[in-house]
Amino acid sequence: MDESQPDALAEAWAALDVLAQAPRPDGSAPGSIRPLFAAAPDRFTRFSARAGDILLDYSKTAITEGVLAALLDLARAADVEGRRDAMATGLPINVTERRAVLHMALRAPRDAVFKTGPGEPREDATAEVHAVLDRMRDFTRAVHDGTLRGGTGLTFTDVVNIGIGGSDLGPAMVTRALRTAHSPMRAHYLSNVDGHAWEALRPHLDAARTLVLVASKTFTTQETMTNAALLRDWVAGAVGADKVGRHFVALSTNLQATAAFGIPDGQVFGFRDWVGGRYSLWSSIGLSTALAIGWDGFAQLLAGARRMDEHFLTAPPDQNLPVLLGLVGIWNHNLLGYPTLCVLPYDERLARFPAHLQQLEMESLGKRVTLTGAPAAHETGPVVFGEPGTNAQHSFMQLVHQGTTPVPVDFVLIANPDHGHPDSHRKLLANGLAQAEALMRGRTADEIEAEMRAEGLAQTEVARLLPHRVCPGDRPSNTILLPHLDPGTLGQLIALYEHKVFVQGAVWGINAFDQWGVELGKQLAGAILPELVHGPTPGAHDSSTTGLLEEILRLQGN
Ligand code: F6P
Repeated sequence: MDESQPDALAEAWAALDVLAQAPRPDGSAPGSIRPLFAAAPDRFTRFSARAGDILLDYSKTAITEGVLAALLDLARAADVEGRRDAMATGLPINVTERRAVLHMALRAPRDAVFKTGPGEPREDATAEVHAVLDRMRDFTRAVHDGTLRGGTGLTFTDVVNIGIGGSDLGPAMVTRALRTAHSPMRAHYLSNVDGHAWEALRPHLDAARTLVLVASKTFTTQETMTNAALLRDWVAGAVGADKVGRHFVALSTNLQATAAFGIPDGQVFGFRDWVGGRYSLWSSIGLSTALAIGWDGFAQLLAGARRMDEHFLTAPPDQNLPVLLGLVGIWNHNLLGYPTLCVLPYDERLARFPAHLQQLEMESLGKRVTLTGAPAAHETGPVVFGEPGTNAQHSFMQLVHQGTTPVPVDFVLIANPDHGHPDSHRKLLANGLAQAEALMRGRTADEIEAEMRAEGLAQTEVARLLPHRVCPGDRPSNTILLPHLDPGTLGQLIALYEHKVFVQGAVWGINAFDQWGVELGKQLAGAILPELVHGPTPGAHDSSTTGLLEEILRLQGN
């Protein structure tokens, strides 16, 4: 499975280091972008690629033909294609949890072959996936047509998805992106264990008409189980304890725990441990999306992702969008030393896309050791953040334009809106394009001086203001352009980033599919919980934690 050649890998990194450190043959700095556009008017054509409905323009980065060739050598030396194929054939590439990574099977057609398991014959993942999808489809339609009703005989108008992390972010993001005024049901997402979240949601719901989905891969997550218990009491109060089961559905791999919670097997939609939390929106965890947007929309979402899967599995690396996006990120992060990645969707419907990517990227790539347990030789995942444009322009983009360290940006633009306000949309697009251009071009001292002189400013004033007004430029960005935002294009977009993360994990040689770091906080929270009732256990904590515990208890009047 691991065909990577340590020597070839070291050579590929070394070749990239040379390119990143020495000036280019024309004397320009390796991180500069403006000279590349000046030298090659067809740069856009040369450094953009298409797959399905997606155009990726990476020309506003410091990638040259030489850099791209060296990055492709790196991908080859790291055996990205071999690792990809190992994933697709169901091998346990999540080595620390001894699990396969088969989210591609969740969106595969019925006749596709995705096998898993160590023994022969290996299990047919696709058949099981479609059995669950068929049940999800029938359930969704039965809720929509009123065949399935609540405990008092009323139809369901609202669905609440209780889940956190991957059991919340993906479905919440997709539902927000795709719901319309004509959507068949309202969907709500309850994730935080903070009771204020539930109190804010409760007034908008009628318990007798609310369907509750308890979405948890493990069905043990503290936040989710706490909220599930709250809602069970709330629904029972409205429809009676004997009928509460009609309102509850479980989406989980832990069928014993769902039964113990009291959810009948017929209302449990399972999936397997080869679905990672941050890839679970395609599994039964996506049921809230199907209920919110309708089954056909959910099926189109899966088909969109499948389109990107087929591209990722078959396109040559130099035309493979996830490979290119991943390698451009590696150039920015590892070679040019830019520690962050900013994602700016210029579409309000994608407001939660950056949050989804934060989990996808940072939970996957936030690792400090390689697959063998040795310290990672290179920086791994960047810090990811973002907001929809244009709002971002009026909050943190100042730092992106003029801060001391460049922040690479991914712009996501949608050519055609689904509203009747063309002037608003033109302004939205103009701003997105302008930000990318401004970051790349900047504004030189000469340009600003000429402008200030034209305004009639005195020489002393020009000199005083000049350094503040210079924008250095040469700040990299990718632009991802979609024709529309619909289930099919969104499926492609999400899968693009999933595979990009895979590519980067493969190049860095890390396990992008576990998340042991999250466990420590969970364990410590479990230990602290009783101390919020009984007071700190002497000697159990550092003086800060003990001091804060005592102060909280004092403020609570204990
Ligand atoms: O945050 C850690 C994590 O395990 C995520 O990977 C997962 O998406 C989330 O918790 C929720 O877990 P579960 O679906 O088991 O409730």
